[in-house]
Amino acid sequence: MILEAISNRRACRTFLADPVPLELIEELIHAGQYAPTARHIKSVEYIFVTDEKTHRAIAGALVPQDFVATAPVIIVPVADTKTASKPREDLTLATANIWLQAAHLGLGCVWKHVHDGEEQEKLRAVLGIPEHYLVINVLPIGYPAETLAPHTDEEFDPKKIHREKWRRRESEY
Ligand SMILES: Cc1cc2nc3c(=O)[nH]c(=O)nc-3n(C[C@H](O)[C@H](O)[C@H](O)COP(=O)(O)O)c2cc1C
Repeated sequence: MILEAISNRRACRTFLADPVPLELIEELIHAGQYAPTARHIKSVEYIFVTDEKTHRAIAGALVPQDFVATAPVIIVPVADTKTASKPREDLTLATANIWLQAAHLGLGCVWKHVHDGEEQEKLRAVLGIPEHYLVINVLPIGYPAETLAPHTDEEFDPKKIHREKWRRRESEY
């Protein structure tokens, strides 16, 4: 059941213009807040952006990908490095929960990476994110304009599983 839900999560990069209702945005952030965090320090906060001008500014701060400016909503998870034990890991798991919940709600989502350094600084400036908050991605979200096939059993690769200790095997582990 959960595996099936996981298989339906795909990277969506084209979105319809239809707005995403506020209740659904809140539900996505709700899912993010259920994610595990190191030492249970809930360090992650969320900015969501629906304003087109700000979308364009976000897009301008990052390596160009068209969908950043055109997605109806962008969620930006940020983690307080003053309090977090493992901010990068906390952000990653919060992102995974949001992405999975988006798929469950019939919404498309993608991890748009924010590289450390200049990109991060530019994004901080656009959104007014304080210096001590880490940002590793932005999540463009909307109703998908493309049909993405779920992951299938063919992708399951037993050769990447090592039983008891590391060994390369051609077939069974
Ligand atoms: C750490 C990380 C960084 C990623 N950065 C980007 C990105 O900047 N732009 C993008 O279009 N997709 C990005 N992706 C999405 C991946 O390309 C995508 O998840 C992968 O190709 C597998 O496809 P799937 O999500 O449909 O299973 C990123 C994913 C991860 C986990």
